Amino acid sequence: MEKSSITVQRHILEQERKHQQATGDLTGLLWDLTLAAKVVSREVNRAGLADIFGATGEENESGDLVKRLDSIAQDTIYRAMDHGGHLCLMVSEESPDLIPIPAKYPKGKYLLLYDPLDGSSNIEANVSIGTIFSVHRRITGSGDGTLEDCLRKGSEQVAAGYFLYGSSTMIVYTTGQGVYGFTLDPSIGEFMLSHDRIVTPPQGKYYSINEGNAAGWDEPTRNYVQHLKQKDKATGRPYSLRYIGSLVADIHRTLVYGGIFLYPSDTSDPANPKPKLRLLYEVAPMSFLMEQAGGAAITGTQRVLDVQATSLHHKVPIVLGSKQDVATYERFCTESGTVPAGKKK
Ligand code: AHG
Ligand code: MN
Ligand code: MN
Repeated sequence: MEKSSITVQRHILEQERKHQQATGDLTGLLWDLTLAAKVVSREVNRAGLADIFGATGEENESGDLVKRLDSIAQDTIYRAMDHGGHLCLMVSEESPDLIPIPAKYPKGKYLLLYDPLDGSSNIEANVSIGTIFSVHRRITGSGDGTLEDCLRKGSEQVAAGYFLYGSSTMIVYTTGQGVYGFTLDPSIGEFMLSHDRIVTPPQGKYYSINEGNAAGWDEPTRNYVQHLKQKDKATGRPYSLRYIGSLVADIHRTLVYGGIFLYPSDTSDPANPKPKLRLLYEVAPMSFLMEQAGGAAITGTQRVLDVQATSLHHKVPIVLGSKQDVATYERFCTESGTVPAGKKK
């Protein structure tokens, strides 16, 4: 007997039924997204055979080289989501501006913000990559969505999650009632419940950061990582480094095993700190998931979900993971004076 006979469709429906005023719109939106992800998963899994590796030669708004699979994922998700009537607009890492819903299709009450393919630098190395999504309810009345609908706080998200194209294809999502994971059963083409409520351990033994960027770290990050390399009083061992370079894979491990993931700003020019990861479709959805799993997510000076987005591709530093590990990092921030003791900016 299968471990679970609960499909993600049934789970989403049951989650939505808990909300009296639910109209089924969010259920329909998430169902359409799972279909898109199955197509992206197929394309990722056959990339080496179908000669769809490589770059398109274009750059996106964040200055990243756009890979052919980035484009395929972008187009696949757009075509799956543009006609369902659940959305008033979309925002994608691969599109500089808002993506309107075509005039011939009805507009809905939600907006979808997504990273169609995360971890693109790992494609040709056959390392896990993924898709990240965030859903907000529109604040403008009707018709086409606007920039005002997009520039929100992460705490206002209605749903968030990711698809992980790894040794198995998974969806991990939350609608604010906990974090749930589903594994694709290719024999029936359905995502089946495999992680019934992911809860992140209060403390982990892994830290995840690109050590190659150490020269640009700020003082709290330098001191904190140095601290992790000392023998931990409880375990008598230092933390181990695990860094995959695909946010979805690094976060999935942190959610399931515990520990801490950091992508601090490059402060080589202290007057001009340079964060890398994007708030709306990478950092905010991952922070919503982490908090829903009992972990924490900060920028270093404040809770991520309290950050007000000021542009579509707004970048922020991120430290997230097990509650105790993030609290220790915060202590290093307070000790170095970047965060006044007892006060968050
Ligand atoms: P994307 O492929 O969507 O541009 O995202 C890449 C991001 C994220 O997946 C990962 O955590 C980070 O870039 C890795 O950056 P470095 O290669 O600088 O470590
Ligand atoms: Mn990404
Ligand atoms: Mn991407």
